[in-house]
Amino acid sequence: MRAVRYHGPKLPLRLEVVPQPEPGPGEILVKVTAAGICHTELHFLSGLLNLGINPLTLGHEVVGKVDKVGPGVTAPRVGERVIIYYYVGCGRCAHCLVGDENLCDAIQAEYGFVTDGGFAEYVKVPARNAVRLPDGLSDEAAAPIGCGVTTAVHASALARLKAGEVVLVYGVGAVSYGLIQMAVLAGAEVIAVSRTTAKLAKARQLGAAHTIGATEGKVAERVRELTHGHGADVIFEMVATKETMAACTQAIAKRGRLVFIGYSEDSYTVHPIQLVITEASVMGSVGNTLGELVRAVDLVASGKVQTVVDRVLPLENFQQGIDALAKGELIGRVVLKP
Ligand SMILES: NC(=O)c1ccc[n+]([C@@H]2O[C@H](COP(=O)([O-])OP(=O)(O)OC[C@H]3O[C@@H](n4cnc5c(N)ncnc54)[C@H](OP(=O)(O)O)[C@@H]3O)[C@@H](O)[C@H]2O)c1
Ligand SMILES: [Zn+2]
Ligand SMILES: [Zn+2]
Repeated sequence: MRAVRYHGPKLPLRLEVVPQPEPGPGEILVKVTAAGICHTELHFLSGLLNLGINPLTLGHEVVGKVDKVGPGVTAPRVGERVIIYYYVGCGRCAHCLVGDENLCDAIQAEYGFVTDGGFAEYVKVPARNAVRLPDGLSDEAAAPIGCGVTTAVHASALARLKAGEVVLVYGVGAVSYGLIQMAVLAGAEVIAVSRTTAKLAKARQLGAAHTIGATEGKVAERVRELTHGHGADVIFEMVATKETMAACTQAIAKRGRLVFIGYSEDSYTVHPIQLVITEASVMGSVGNTLGELVRAVDLVASGKVQTVVDRVLPLENFQQGIDALAKGELIGRVVLKP
């Protein structure tokens, strides 16, 4: 089968022919029909994220159709449309026991990270990792749920987002479109910051009350003005450069929560007094739980949250998608179709 293979930092992705996987006991084989390209792919390519496993098929936002089941899968699943939950936890550690597979101490598989993912014609996963997709949601529109929407569902819960709070989303891309809609659903007032006008226009369309052009500078001052000095109760940092992190820290409200989702080469520096006098918290958010994927599918299927797809490309044109993402040209995701 054809697959887009990662060979390590600073090496190009290559379309290669690899053996089609065979589902083992309890596993199913999914014929991939749509796979979103996440910004995390760029971190693999630059080497900022280096999990040391290659060659590897990338792709963790994966939708497809069940093609075949392995021994022991008794439920009639062949032909079912599914979206992949990209973690397989050990099922036994303290995190897995409460459903936090994204924090597993002995991860068994992580599709598109350490295990072959969805930029391929087929992917095999344990049957429980293939979540049924309702009709009426196209494969292309569903793919960005897998990371884009799930990350937003998870981070919003971690941030303990409440009605009436001010939420700042710094950097507007595919994950941010999920965050903006989750914040609006929670009854928060959203301020979105980005450098591209068209991305901000889409943010407003999805419910952001205010937008700030990052190129204008003075983002923190603008946030204070818009909130009559209060600042942002929850800040989702999607960019995390020195400049954006400084602005986020200055914009945080008393008892505010700064949540890192994105990251860059830069380190975060803060004088403790800034956290002491505001009683602010700084936290990170990674991935999601299986339950959060099921919730994300429901939110999109019921029309409460929309995914944003900029373009759909055939698998072999993956490089066009990667380049457009790196240049910041996309409003939402690129989805590949094997
Ligand atoms: N923690 C997790 O579980 C998780 C999950 C998914 C993704 N991520 C990470 O989250 C980040 C965002 O992912 P994504 O897929 O949503 O990326 P994306 O679609 O590329 O969106 C990021 C957006 O940030 C904006 N941006 C970049 N530099 C900026 C700057 N200096 N000031 C203001 N805006 C800036 C870009 O738009 P403009 O330049 O046009 O403003 C871009 O559209 C990435 O670092 C990714 O690896 C983390
Ligand atoms: Zn992702
Ligand atoms: Zn575990």
